[in-house]
Amino acid sequence: MRETSRTRSGERVKAKAAPDAATLLAWYDVSARVLPWRARGGAKPDPYRVWLSEIMLQQTRVETVLPYYAKFLSRWPDVTALANARQEEVLSAWAGLGYYARARNLHACAKAVVAEFAGIFPEDEIELRRLPGIGAYTSAAVSAIAFGRKATPVDGNIERVMSRLFAVEEKLPAAKKTLARLAAELTPALRAGDFAQALMDLGATICTPKKPACAICPWLEPCVARGRGDQETFPRKVEKAEGKLRKGAAFVVLREDDHILLRTRGEKGLLASMTEVPGSEWNAEYKESTASAPMRGLKWRKVSGVVRHVFTHFPLELTVYFVRVPKKAGAPKAMRFVPLDELDREALPSVMRKVIAHALEFSSEPEFTRSKQE
Ligand code: ADE
Repeated sequence: MRETSRTRSGERVKAKAAPDAATLLAWYDVSARVLPWRARGGAKPDPYRVWLSEIMLQQTRVETVLPYYAKFLSRWPDVTALANARQEEVLSAWAGLGYYARARNLHACAKAVVAEFAGIFPEDEIELRRLPGIGAYTSAAVSAIAFGRKATPVDGNIERVMSRLFAVEEKLPAAKKTLARLAAELTPALRAGDFAQALMDLGATICTPKKPACAICPWLEPCVARGRGDQETFPRKVEKAEGKLRKGAAFVVLREDDHILLRTRGEKGLLASMTEVPGSEWNAEYKESTASAPMRGLKWRKVSGVVRHVFTHFPLELTVYFVRVPKKAGAPKAMRFVPLDELDREALPSVMRKVIAHALEFSSEPEFTRSKQE
Protein backbone atom coordinates (compact mmCIF):
# COMPACT_ATOMS: atom_id res chain seq x y z
CA MET A 1 0.00 0.00 0.00
CA ARG A 2 1.27 3.50 -0.89
CA GLU A 3 1.84 5.79 2.02
CA THR A 4 1.69 9.53 1.91
CA SER A 5 3.97 12.00 3.59
CA ARG A 6 4.51 15.73 3.71
CA THR A 7 7.28 17.76 2.15
CA ARG A 8 9.10 20.36 4.24
CA SER A 9 6.66 22.98 3.08
CA GLY A 10 3.81 20.81 4.24
CA GLU A 11 2.33 19.56 0.93
CA ARG A 12 0.98 16.06 1.00
CA VAL A 13 2.83 13.86 -1.55
CA LYS A 14 2.71 10.21 -2.45
CA ALA A 15 5.71 8.39 -1.04
CA LYS A 16 7.64 6.34 -3.55
CA ALA A 17 7.15 2.58 -3.48
CA ALA A 18 10.09 0.96 -1.72
CA PRO A 19 12.22 -1.31 -3.90
CA ASP A 20 11.36 -4.96 -3.32
CA ALA A 21 12.69 -8.35 -4.34
CA ALA A 22 9.37 -9.52 -5.81
CA THR A 23 9.38 -6.78 -8.47
CA LEU A 24 12.93 -7.62 -9.50
CA LEU A 25 12.23 -11.37 -9.55
CA ALA A 26 9.14 -10.87 -11.74
CA TRP A 27 11.33 -8.94 -14.18
CA TYR A 28 14.00 -11.68 -14.02
CA ASP A 29 11.41 -14.35 -14.81
CA VAL A 30 10.83 -12.80 -18.21
CA SER A 31 14.13 -11.02 -18.90
CA ALA A 32 16.92 -13.23 -17.50
CA ARG A 33 19.87 -13.65 -19.83
CA VAL A 34 20.15 -17.20 -21.10
CA LEU A 35 23.58 -18.33 -19.89
CA PRO A 36 24.94 -21.87 -20.05
CA TRP A 37 25.66 -22.21 -16.33
CA ARG A 38 22.11 -21.23 -15.36
CA ALA A 39 19.69 -24.09 -14.67
CA ARG A 40 16.53 -23.73 -16.70
CA GLY A 41 12.89 -24.66 -16.20
CA GLY A 42 13.17 -25.31 -12.49
CA ALA A 43 16.07 -27.79 -12.91
CA LYS A 44 18.54 -28.10 -10.04
CA PRO A 45 21.76 -26.17 -10.69
CA ASP A 46 25.01 -28.15 -10.88
CA PRO A 47 27.32 -26.68 -8.18
CA TYR A 48 30.42 -27.53 -10.25
CA ARG A 49 29.13 -25.49 -13.18
CA VAL A 50 28.05 -22.63 -10.96
CA TRP A 51 31.42 -22.55 -9.22
CA LEU A 52 33.39 -22.82 -12.49
CA SER A 53 31.40 -19.96 -14.04
CA GLU A 54 31.76 -17.76 -10.96
CA ILE A 55 35.55 -18.19 -10.87
CA MET A 56 35.78 -17.37 -14.58
CA LEU A 57 33.47 -14.37 -14.19
CA GLN A 58 35.66 -12.79 -11.51
CA GLN A 59 36.76 -9.52 -13.15
CA THR A 60 35.84 -10.90 -16.57
CA ARG A 61 32.94 -10.16 -18.89
CA VAL A 62 30.30 -12.76 -19.69
CA GLU A 63 31.05 -12.75 -23.47
CA THR A 64 34.75 -13.39 -22.79
CA VAL A 65 33.97 -16.25 -20.43
CA LEU A 66 31.53 -18.15 -22.67
CA PRO A 67 34.04 -20.00 -24.93
CA TYR A 68 36.35 -20.78 -21.99
CA TYR A 69 33.47 -22.12 -19.96
CA ALA A 70 32.43 -24.40 -22.84
CA LYS A 71 36.01 -25.60 -23.31
CA PHE A 72 36.57 -26.37 -19.63
CA LEU A 73 33.25 -28.15 -19.32
CA SER A 74 33.82 -30.38 -22.32
CA ARG A 75 37.38 -31.18 -21.20
CA TRP A 76 36.64 -31.55 -17.50
CA PRO A 77 32.90 -32.25 -17.08
CA ASP A 78 33.02 -32.60 -13.30
CA VAL A 79 35.13 -31.61 -10.33
CA THR A 80 36.94 -34.96 -10.16
CA ALA A 81 38.02 -34.70 -13.80
CA LEU A 82 39.37 -31.20 -13.16
CA ALA A 83 41.14 -32.30 -9.97
CA ASN A 84 42.89 -35.06 -11.95
CA ALA A 85 44.13 -32.71 -14.68
CA ARG A 86 47.76 -31.59 -14.81
CA GLN A 87 48.32 -28.00 -13.72
CA GLU A 88 49.99 -27.06 -17.02
CA GLU A 89 46.95 -28.28 -18.93
CA VAL A 90 44.65 -26.15 -16.80
CA LEU A 91 46.88 -23.07 -17.10
CA SER A 92 47.18 -23.57 -20.82
CA ALA A 93 43.38 -23.90 -21.27
CA TRP A 94 43.03 -20.72 -19.20
CA ALA A 95 45.56 -18.70 -21.24
CA GLY A 96 43.93 -15.50 -22.48
CA LEU A 97 41.41 -15.18 -19.64
CA GLY A 98 43.88 -13.24 -17.49
CA TYR A 99 44.36 -13.10 -13.72
CA TYR A 100 46.17 -16.43 -13.79
CA ALA A 101 46.18 -16.95 -10.05
CA ARG A 102 42.52 -17.85 -10.64
CA ALA A 103 43.49 -20.84 -12.77
CA ARG A 104 45.92 -22.17 -10.17
CA ASN A 105 43.33 -21.66 -7.44
CA LEU A 106 40.63 -23.25 -9.57
CA HIS A 107 42.72 -26.38 -9.84
CA ALA A 108 43.68 -26.33 -6.15
CA CYS A 109 40.02 -25.87 -5.23
CA ALA A 110 38.91 -28.83 -7.36
CA LYS A 111 41.54 -30.97 -5.63
CA ALA A 112 40.42 -29.77 -2.20
CA VAL A 113 36.74 -30.48 -2.93
CA VAL A 114 37.66 -34.01 -4.01
CA ALA A 115 40.07 -34.65 -1.13
CA GLU A 116 38.16 -32.99 1.70
CA PHE A 117 34.51 -33.16 0.60
CA ALA A 118 34.42 -36.36 -1.48
CA GLY A 119 33.79 -34.28 -4.60
CA ILE A 120 30.69 -32.55 -3.22
CA PHE A 121 30.83 -28.78 -2.88
CA PRO A 122 29.92 -27.47 0.58
CA GLU A 123 26.74 -25.34 0.63
CA ASP A 124 27.62 -22.89 3.32
CA GLU A 125 29.22 -19.54 2.53
CA ILE A 126 31.73 -19.81 5.36
CA GLU A 127 32.85 -23.29 4.37
CA LEU A 128 33.06 -22.35 0.70
CA ARG A 129 35.22 -19.39 1.61
CA ARG A 130 37.88 -21.63 3.10
CA LEU A 131 38.54 -23.12 -0.34
CA PRO A 132 41.26 -21.70 -2.64
CA GLY A 133 40.15 -18.86 -4.92
CA ILE A 134 36.79 -18.39 -3.23
CA GLY A 135 36.37 -14.97 -1.64
CA ALA A 136 33.36 -13.17 -0.19
CA TYR A 137 31.67 -12.58 -3.54
CA THR A 138 32.12 -16.07 -4.96
CA SER A 139 31.16 -17.88 -1.76
CA ALA A 140 27.92 -15.90 -1.60
CA ALA A 141 27.24 -16.40 -5.32
CA VAL A 142 27.80 -20.18 -5.20
CA SER A 143 25.88 -20.61 -1.96
CA ALA A 144 22.89 -18.65 -3.30
CA ILE A 145 22.89 -19.79 -6.94
CA ALA A 146 23.87 -23.45 -6.55
CA PHE A 147 22.13 -24.16 -3.23
CA GLY A 148 19.46 -21.49 -2.82
CA ARG A 149 20.96 -20.31 0.47
CA LYS A 150 20.18 -16.75 1.53
CA ALA A 151 23.40 -15.01 0.59
CA THR A 152 24.15 -11.82 -1.33
CA PRO A 153 27.16 -11.53 -3.63
CA VAL A 154 28.05 -7.88 -4.13
CA ASP A 155 30.36 -6.76 -6.92
CA GLY A 156 30.87 -3.41 -8.65
CA ASN A 157 27.70 -3.79 -10.72
CA ILE A 158 25.54 -4.48 -7.70
CA GLU A 159 27.18 -1.65 -5.79
CA ARG A 160 26.24 0.66 -8.64
CA VAL A 161 22.61 -0.53 -8.60
CA MET A 162 22.34 -0.03 -4.82
CA SER A 163 24.08 3.34 -4.89
CA ARG A 164 21.52 4.64 -7.41
CA LEU A 165 18.50 2.96 -5.93
CA PHE A 166 19.16 4.60 -2.57
CA ALA A 167 21.23 7.60 -3.80
CA VAL A 168 24.07 6.70 -1.45
CA GLU A 169 26.29 9.75 -1.04
CA GLU A 170 29.06 7.95 0.80
CA LYS A 171 32.06 7.42 -1.48
CA LEU A 172 33.57 4.13 -2.55
CA PRO A 173 35.54 2.30 -1.29
CA ALA A 174 34.28 3.32 2.17
CA ALA A 175 30.68 2.88 0.95
CA LYS A 176 31.16 -0.84 0.28
CA LYS A 177 29.78 -1.87 3.65
CA THR A 178 26.66 0.28 3.30
CA LEU A 179 26.00 -0.93 -0.24
CA ALA A 180 26.44 -4.58 0.77
CA ARG A 181 24.04 -4.09 3.68
CA LEU A 182 21.42 -2.51 1.43
CA ALA A 183 21.69 -5.43 -1.02
CA ALA A 184 21.52 -7.97 1.81
CA GLU A 185 18.43 -6.30 3.28
CA LEU A 186 16.64 -6.66 -0.05
CA THR A 187 17.59 -10.33 -0.50
CA PRO A 188 14.62 -12.68 -0.09
CA ALA A 189 14.86 -15.94 1.87
CA LEU A 190 13.45 -17.81 -1.11
CA ARG A 191 15.05 -17.56 -4.56
CA ALA A 192 18.18 -15.82 -3.25
CA GLY A 193 20.14 -17.23 -6.21
CA ASP A 194 17.71 -15.84 -8.74
CA PHE A 195 17.69 -12.54 -6.89
CA ALA A 196 21.51 -12.37 -7.04
CA GLN A 197 21.51 -13.13 -10.76
CA ALA A 198 18.68 -10.68 -11.34
CA LEU A 199 20.81 -7.96 -9.73
CA MET A 200 23.74 -9.01 -11.92
CA ASP A 201 21.59 -8.84 -15.05
CA LEU A 202 20.10 -5.52 -14.05
CA GLY A 203 23.59 -4.07 -13.53
CA ALA A 204 24.90 -5.51 -16.79
CA THR A 205 22.01 -4.69 -19.09
CA ILE A 206 19.97 -1.79 -17.66
CA CYS A 207 21.69 -0.05 -14.77
CA THR A 208 24.90 0.36 -16.78
CA PRO A 209 27.65 2.83 -15.80
CA LYS A 210 26.81 5.19 -18.66
CA LYS A 211 23.39 5.91 -20.13
CA PRO A 212 21.38 3.51 -17.95
CA ALA A 213 18.14 2.37 -19.58
CA CYS A 214 15.96 3.66 -16.75
CA ALA A 215 12.79 3.68 -18.85
CA ILE A 216 12.71 -0.13 -18.86
CA CYS A 217 14.01 -0.67 -15.32
CA PRO A 218 11.77 -2.70 -13.02
CA TRP A 219 12.90 -0.47 -10.16
CA LEU A 220 12.32 2.78 -12.02
CA GLU A 221 9.76 4.05 -9.53
CA PRO A 222 11.58 3.48 -6.28
CA CYS A 223 14.99 4.57 -7.63
CA VAL A 224 15.93 7.67 -5.64
CA ALA A 225 18.73 8.80 -7.96
CA ARG A 226 16.52 8.46 -11.01
CA GLY A 227 13.86 10.49 -9.22
CA ARG A 228 16.40 13.29 -8.88
CA GLY A 229 17.77 12.76 -12.38
CA ASP A 230 21.41 12.34 -11.34
CA GLN A 231 21.62 8.54 -11.60
CA GLU A 232 24.69 8.61 -13.86
CA THR A 233 26.72 10.34 -11.15
CA PHE A 234 26.51 7.27 -8.89
CA PRO A 235 28.32 5.54 -7.33
CA ARG A 236 30.30 8.31 -5.68
CA LYS A 237 34.02 7.49 -5.68
CA VAL A 238 37.23 8.75 -4.12
CA GLU A 239 39.52 9.65 -7.01
CA LYS A 240 42.43 7.29 -7.35
CA ALA A 241 45.78 7.62 -9.04
CA GLU A 242 46.30 5.46 -12.12
CA GLY A 243 49.06 2.84 -11.93
CA LYS A 244 52.31 4.21 -13.30
CA LEU A 245 53.35 3.11 -16.80
CA ARG A 246 55.95 0.34 -16.73
CA LYS A 247 58.24 -0.49 -19.62
CA GLY A 248 60.39 -3.41 -20.56
CA ALA A 249 62.05 -5.36 -23.36
CA ALA A 250 61.01 -8.75 -24.77
CA PHE A 251 63.31 -10.93 -26.84
CA VAL A 252 61.90 -13.21 -29.49
CA VAL A 253 64.39 -15.82 -30.68
CA LEU A 254 63.16 -17.85 -33.63
CA ARG A 255 65.11 -20.88 -34.74
CA GLU A 256 65.27 -21.69 -38.46
CA ASP A 257 63.06 -24.73 -37.90
CA ASP A 258 60.31 -22.45 -36.45
CA HIS A 259 60.97 -23.11 -32.80
CA ILE A 260 60.73 -20.18 -30.40
CA LEU A 261 62.75 -19.65 -27.24
CA LEU A 262 60.60 -19.68 -24.10
CA ARG A 263 60.94 -19.87 -20.35
CA THR A 264 58.64 -20.26 -17.34
CA ARG A 265 58.06 -17.36 -14.96
CA GLY A 266 58.66 -17.76 -11.23
CA GLU A 267 56.08 -19.34 -8.94
CA LYS A 268 55.20 -16.10 -7.19
CA GLY A 269 53.80 -12.76 -8.31
CA LEU A 270 52.32 -11.48 -11.53
CA LEU A 271 51.69 -14.20 -14.17
CA ALA A 272 53.27 -16.76 -11.83
CA SER A 273 54.27 -20.06 -13.51
CA MET A 274 53.14 -18.82 -16.91
CA THR A 275 55.21 -19.07 -20.08
CA GLU A 276 57.04 -16.08 -21.55
CA VAL A 277 59.75 -15.14 -24.00
CA PRO A 278 62.91 -13.94 -22.25
CA GLY A 279 62.81 -10.29 -21.31
CA SER A 280 63.96 -7.52 -19.02
CA GLU A 281 62.24 -6.49 -15.82
CA TRP A 282 59.20 -4.27 -16.19
CA ASN A 283 59.50 -0.98 -14.36
CA ALA A 284 58.93 2.74 -14.58
CA GLU A 285 62.67 3.44 -14.84
CA TYR A 286 63.26 1.24 -17.90
CA LYS A 287 66.33 2.23 -19.95
CA GLU A 288 66.65 0.82 -23.42
CA SER A 289 70.46 0.77 -23.24
CA THR A 290 70.63 -1.60 -20.26
CA ALA A 291 67.56 -3.72 -20.94
CA SER A 292 69.21 -5.92 -23.54
CA ALA A 293 72.41 -6.62 -21.60
CA PRO A 294 71.50 -10.23 -20.69
CA MET A 295 70.94 -11.16 -24.32
CA ARG A 296 74.18 -9.77 -25.76
CA GLY A 297 75.98 -11.53 -28.56
CA LEU A 298 73.10 -11.95 -31.00
CA LYS A 299 72.23 -9.76 -33.96
CA TRP A 300 69.02 -8.29 -32.63
CA ARG A 301 66.62 -6.30 -34.75
CA LYS A 302 64.34 -3.91 -32.90
CA VAL A 303 60.74 -4.43 -34.02
CA SER A 304 59.13 -1.11 -34.85
CA GLY A 305 56.34 0.02 -32.52
CA VAL A 306 55.69 -1.33 -29.03
CA VAL A 307 53.33 -3.90 -27.51
CA ARG A 308 50.89 -2.37 -25.03
CA HIS A 309 49.02 -4.28 -22.39
CA VAL A 310 47.02 -3.14 -19.39
CA PHE A 311 47.25 -5.16 -16.19
CA THR A 312 44.97 -4.50 -13.23
CA HIS A 313 47.46 -2.27 -11.47
CA PHE A 314 49.53 -0.77 -14.25
CA PRO A 315 49.82 -0.32 -18.00
CA LEU A 316 52.82 -1.93 -19.71
CA GLU A 317 54.76 -1.05 -22.84
CA LEU A 318 57.17 -3.63 -24.25
CA THR A 319 59.84 -3.02 -26.84
CA VAL A 320 60.30 -6.21 -28.84
CA TYR A 321 63.61 -7.46 -30.24
CA PHE A 322 63.80 -10.23 -32.77
CA VAL A 323 66.51 -12.55 -34.02
CA ARG A 324 66.69 -15.69 -36.13
CA VAL A 325 69.19 -18.34 -35.09
CA PRO A 326 70.44 -21.47 -36.85
CA LYS A 327 68.74 -24.81 -36.44
CA LYS A 328 71.57 -26.14 -34.31
CA ALA A 329 71.24 -23.39 -31.68
CA GLY A 330 70.73 -24.73 -28.17
CA ALA A 331 68.59 -23.10 -25.49
CA PRO A 332 70.29 -21.20 -22.64
CA LYS A 333 69.89 -22.52 -19.10
CA ALA A 334 66.26 -22.68 -17.84
CA MET A 335 64.89 -21.94 -21.31
CA ARG A 336 63.56 -24.19 -24.06
CA PHE A 337 62.83 -24.09 -27.76
CA VAL A 338 59.17 -24.87 -28.51
CA PRO A 339 57.68 -25.41 -32.00
CA LEU A 340 55.48 -22.47 -33.02
CA ASP A 341 52.64 -24.81 -33.90
CA GLU A 342 52.65 -26.17 -30.35
CA LEU A 343 52.27 -22.81 -28.63
CA ASP A 344 48.65 -23.62 -27.79
CA ARG A 345 49.89 -26.17 -25.29
CA GLU A 346 51.78 -23.49 -23.41
CA ALA A 347 50.31 -21.34 -20.65
CA LEU A 348 50.96 -18.17 -22.62
CA PRO A 349 49.37 -15.03 -21.17
CA SER A 350 47.77 -12.52 -23.56
CA VAL A 351 50.65 -10.09 -23.30
CA MET A 352 53.07 -12.77 -24.55
CA ARG A 353 50.74 -13.73 -27.39
CA LYS A 354 50.80 -10.10 -28.43
CA VAL A 355 54.62 -9.97 -28.23
CA ILE A 356 55.05 -13.09 -30.35
CA ALA A 357 52.46 -11.98 -32.91
CA HIS A 358 54.16 -8.58 -33.14
CA ALA A 359 57.60 -10.15 -33.71
CA LEU A 360 56.35 -12.70 -36.25
CA GLU A 361 54.57 -10.04 -38.22
CA PHE A 362 57.84 -8.12 -38.35
CA SER A 363 59.85 -11.21 -39.32
CA SER A 364 57.80 -11.62 -42.48
CA GLU A 365 58.27 -8.01 -43.58
CA PRO A 366 60.17 -7.69 -46.90
CA GLU A 367 62.88 -5.57 -45.34
CA PHE A 368 63.67 -8.18 -42.76
CA THR A 369 63.46 -11.09 -45.21
CA ARG A 370 65.83 -9.26 -47.52
CA SER A 371 68.41 -8.57 -44.85
CA LYS A 372 68.23 -12.21 -43.79
CA GLN A 373 69.14 -13.33 -47.29
CA GLU A 374 72.08 -10.93 -47.59
N1 ADE B 1 28.71 -12.33 -13.07
C1 ADE B 1 29.13 -13.06 -12.04
N2 ADE B 1 28.32 -14.12 -11.84
C2 ADE B 1 27.37 -14.07 -12.79
C3 ADE B 1 26.26 -14.87 -13.12
N3 ADE B 1 25.97 -15.96 -12.41
N4 ADE B 1 25.48 -14.49 -14.15
C4 ADE B 1 25.82 -13.39 -14.87
N5 ADE B 1 26.84 -12.60 -14.61
C5 ADE B 1 27.63 -12.93 -13.58
